[in-house]
Amino acid sequence: MYNLLKGKKGIIFGALDEKSIAWKIAERAYENGARFVLTNTPVAMRFGNVKDLADKCESIVVPADATSVEDIENLFKQTMEHFGGKIDFILHSIGMSPNVRKGNTYDHLNYEFYLKTLDISGMSFHKVLQAARKMDAINDWGSVVALSYVAAQRTFYGYNDMADAKALLESIARSFGYIYGRDKKIRINTVSQSPTMTTAGSGVKGIDALLDFSERMSPLGNATADECADYCITLFSDLTKKVTMQNLYHDGGFSSMGMSLKAMDMYNKGVNCDCEHTEEELD
Ligand SMILES: NC(=O)c1ccc[n+]([C@@H]2O[C@H](COP(=O)([O-])OP(=O)(O)OC[C@H]3O[C@@H](n4cnc5c(N)ncnc54)[C@H](O)[C@@H]3O)[C@@H](O)[C@H]2O)c1
Repeated sequence: MYNLLKGKKGIIFGALDEKSIAWKIAERAYENGARFVLTNTPVAMRFGNVKDLADKCESIVVPADATSVEDIENLFKQTMEHFGGKIDFILHSIGMSPNVRKGNTYDHLNYEFYLKTLDISGMSFHKVLQAARKMDAINDWGSVVALSYVAAQRTFYGYNDMADAKALLESIARSFGYIYGRDKKIRINTVSQSPTMTTAGSGVKGIDALLDFSERMSPLGNATADECADYCITLFSDLTKKVTMQNLYHDGGFSSMGMSLKAMDMYNKGVNCDCEHTEEELD
């Protein structure tokens, strides 16, 4: 390891289990010399194994629902007490859609759920940034990263209202990136990651086909969670001090492709298939 984060302190949201992207980022950050506080919802603490990660990384765990301003402010307070000062980086790795969970398609959304999706997966990023700024919790030249997906720009069958939440998330990175950059030299970016087999990932409709399709379309293949961790470490490090307000694709080239030979081969094999779809599948 390169010790890229030696002396840096942070907060990592969203490590649930060994498959979580945030889990891999926490491991890599620790290996690179960072120290951090881990956080997740009280429910996730019960079902996941974040305490094991905390033991491994000499971390403490502070529960917080990222939709609650009170919880977030308490998290910053406890973190600054723990470290005896401000932090240098934050990872927002949070996503959940009650509509996806309940199988409500995009043209049959429950609006209460829709608001929850936007709050948990998008607006929570604003709440974290606003609380951090109000409490002056991040050192000058600090770095904040949130994880996103290309469905913010393009339509993907089955990604549902999470696409809208990701568009909101990326917009918040730009809007707050201006304010925090201007005042404190703090940078804010989103990393748009390949589909990845995690708990949240496996909730996406047709994830197996999506993984296969994007693998065939990407010249470098899908980016794994471990590779995403490597990339995020560089964004928390001093090597990327002037990168801000960007949506950074970490997807093996997928987002710049239109058609690849491997995908075309597959298409040709299946071109005569007269697929029948139910009305629900067509949504
Ligand atoms: N897996 C993929 O295919 C993929 C691709 C691109 C981007 N992402 C994004 O990566 C991030 C991490 O997802 P993951 O794939 O590692 O899955 P994951 O299920 O391991 O992580 C999602 C996390 O969000 C947390 N969470 C949910 N509601 C919360 C709340 N109210 N407050 C605080 N935390 C809450 C969960 O407890 C969980 O730890 C998400 O933003 C996801 O959209 C995932």
